[in-house]
Formats: sequence, C-alpha cells, structure tokens
Amino acid sequence: MTAPRKLFIKTYGCQMNVYDSERMAEAMGANGYVTTQVAEDADMILLNTCHIREKAAEKVYSELGRLKPLKDLNPDLKIGIAGCVAQAEGAEIMRRAPVVDLVVGPQTYHRLPAMEIAARAGERPVDTEFPTEDKFEHLPKGPRAARGPSAFLTVQEGCDKFCAFCVVPYTRGTEVSRPAERILREARDLVARGVRDITLLGQNVNGYHGEGLDGRDWSLARLVRELAEIDDLQRIRYTTSHPNDMTDDLIAAHGEIGKLMPYLHLPVQSGSDKILKAMNRKHTAGQYLELLDRLRAVRPDLAISGDFIVGFPGEDEVEFEATMSLVRKVGYHSAFSFKYSARPGTPAAERPVLPDGLLTERLHRLQALITAQQYAAQEAMVGRDVTVLFEKSGRMPGQMVGKSEFLHAVHVTGTGLEPAIEPGQMRRVRITESMTNSLTGVLL
Ligand code: 5AD
Ligand code: SF4
Repeated sequence: MTAPRKLFIKTYGCQMNVYDSERMAEAMGANGYVTTQVAEDADMILLNTCHIREKAAEKVYSELGRLKPLKDLNPDLKIGIAGCVAQAEGAEIMRRAPVVDLVVGPQTYHRLPAMEIAARAGERPVDTEFPTEDKFEHLPKGPRAARGPSAFLTVQEGCDKFCAFCVVPYTRGTEVSRPAERILREARDLVARGVRDITLLGQNVNGYHGEGLDGRDWSLARLVRELAEIDDLQRIRYTTSHPNDMTDDLIAAHGEIGKLMPYLHLPVQSGSDKILKAMNRKHTAGQYLELLDRLRAVRPDLAISGDFIVGFPGEDEVEFEATMSLVRKVGYHSAFSFKYSARPGTPAAERPVLPDGLLTERLHRLQALITAQQYAAQEAMVGRDVTVLFEKSGRMPGQMVGKSEFLHAVHVTGTGLEPAIEPGQMRRVRITESMTNSLTGVLL
C-alpha cells in the first residue's frame, strides 16, 4: 500500500470557511489524502482565503512567497487557492503567481479532487463558476473526520442584501438555501459522530427559506424546531443574521425552544441612521433596538453580539457618537469592530475615504467600550450557575474546558474526587471567577 498523501489547509476568515475547509479535506480523502498540521510535510497546500476586508489579496501573495521554498524542496507539492479571494481574483492570481497550481471558488470545491488530478498532470485549472448543481450533494465522500462535540453546518449561502460596503454578494453569490432534508441528514450524521452543539451557518442565515419536508418553503425557525427533535443534539445556534430577517416566528423560537441557545450574533454596523442609510442597511438604529427589546421580552437572558464598522464614508463625530450611544444602550456580551475598508466593486468604494488616523482613533474608542461591556458581562456571571458542554482538556493538569450556553469559555479543574469529565458531557457548573477571556468554575 502506498502512504497516503498529506493535505495542509490554512483557513482565513469566517466560520463558513472553517466549515468549507473541513468539507474540502473530506472530499480530498477520495483522492487518498489525509490532513496534516505541518505545511512542510504536505503534498498539497490549500489556502482557503477571505476577501471581506483590506489587503486580502496581498496577504495571499505574501503567504505564497513564504510557501515557495517548500516547492523548491518538494517539486511534487501542489498549491491551491480556495475561498473568496480565489473567487474574486482567481485568474489574476494564476497570472501573477506561477507557484499556484489550481484555483477553486467557494461554490465549486466539489470539483477539487478532479482538479487536483488535472494539476498533477501538469494543468493549472481555475474554476470559479457559480454552478447550478449543489456542491454539497456532489461532494465525493472521503472518510469522515473524527470530531469534537461542536460543529458548524452550512444551511444557507450568499446574500441578496447588498450592503454598500460588502463583497459577500459578489464572492458568495445570491442567497441559496439548502433543502431541509439534506440539512437534517447532515445533522443526524454529525450527532451520530458525537456532536452535541451545532451552529447553523449562512451569510444571511435568518433569511433561510429552504424546501421543507412537506415540499413547502421552511423558515429558519421551522428548521430549528425540526432539528431540536434530534434526541442527542443538545444545542443549536445560528450565525450571521440580518435585523430585517428576524421574523416573528424566529423571535418566538427563542422563547420556546430550549435547545436554541441564548446567544445571538446580530450585527448592526452603525448606530447612526444617516450612516445606516448610506450603508443600504434598510433599517434604523431605533428599529434595531426595538427588535432587541422584543427578543429580550421572550428570552431575558439573551446574550447579544454584534459587528461594527467605524469610519464609513460620511461618518462625522456626531455619527460615530451615535454608534457609541447605541452600544451603551445595548450592553453587548461581545462585539467585533473593524475599520472601514473600501472593497473593489462595492458601491461604497466610489466614495472618499476618511483619514486612517481618524479610523484608528475611533476604533480604539469603540473597542474600549466594547471590552468594558464584555468584562462586565463576564463579571456578572460570577456566582451564577451555567451548563457547560465540555470540549477538551485545559492546559493545567486535571483541567477541562467547555462552553456555557452563552458561549463563554469555562475552565473547570477537578479535585480528583469527582468522576472525570469526558469531552461531549454537559455538567452544571458554578462560576467562581472571571478571567480575561474566560470563566473559571466548579462542578456542582
Ligand atoms: N470594511 C470593514 N468591515 C467590513 N465588514 C464587511 N465588509 C467590510 C468592509 N468593507 C465587516 C462587517 C461584517 C463583518 C463580517 O465584517 O462588520 O458584519
Ligand atoms: Fe454583507 Fe451581511 Fe450586508 Fe449581506 S447582510 S451584504 S453579508 S454585511
């Protein structure tokens, strides 16, 4: 028997890329590949790239520069570019970087095994189509990887919202929802492999409208209700959502479905109505706050997370202050904030950008506020009891790490007297201390 070939994947960007990397690794199993964590050992290296913010392509070229010596050492090494930079700039990458052997977009990676064979035959295939067939149904079935208790599951891809700053509608395409039957099948398969916590993924996940088991279109709420019926599946989350797609049935689901975790990532981007309008968000700050009130009415302990962009064209101090004020009102459990970066091909890229120093200064102010809220939210957990889904051992002897229902990382160190905790187990834990990025607790 020949030794299996080794595949090294470096993943950039969002959780969907993490999911896609897993699926590409499984697909390459059909070509006899196993994964490696060591680039130097690899027979094939895939960069699964992200195009969302600035210098995306530059990062790819500098990584290729670092990888080139590996190719000099091993002429059989194949290098592929996948993901959203591949989609946006695939042909250009092929032209500029002779070290690249193949380019595959996010919608065609089911064709990756065939492309790898073509690359070994000396071709340099590029496939960045938006094909009509469903890549998930056409993925070759390699050996399914062993898994921890948490997993991602893509239910929806693409976005039709066209926020003025965002490349997603161009790189991932228009909104496509997978049929419920396929999602349920994949969920059951994950649960059979030990998964207890599933995060449903989509660029606009709450816009989900896939074909249901009854032949009608199902909403995300309907899908979540069906998933909640899977016995050993304990936890369901979903990300990322748009405020305008938070429908009544989805809000109600947060109050009714115990397995739907009290954590919601609901980006607003800005607190200024003028900027929200310029961003083409199609909602106001007031409507966002009202929505959160309705969600908290059915689920008072709901932890809210968000995304913000500072320095969007036209943002003056007044508009930035409106964002700070909205953040103060919401009380975020966690939030991500970014300096605006003009993305080629998006409508906002036509508008004059603000000085970078101003963006940096605003980013620091916003991040200081968000960090303070995050610490306050963590401090408020001390003395409270949470349910932890344990994932793996910690760095200290006897220590285990897991996630609370609110997505806090929780460390528990055994006394040696209680029964050992296994990954995948859920236990009640009393929080005793708040650390920088995690909580510490004791088993109850
Ligand atoms: N500049 C800065 N941040 C952006 N995001 C998306 N596009 C841009 C851009 N052009 C941020 C948004 C989004 C998150 C995933 O990335 O906040 O919610
Ligand atoms: Fe981009 Fe999200 Fe807006 Fe869609 S809803 S265009 S993915 S920021």
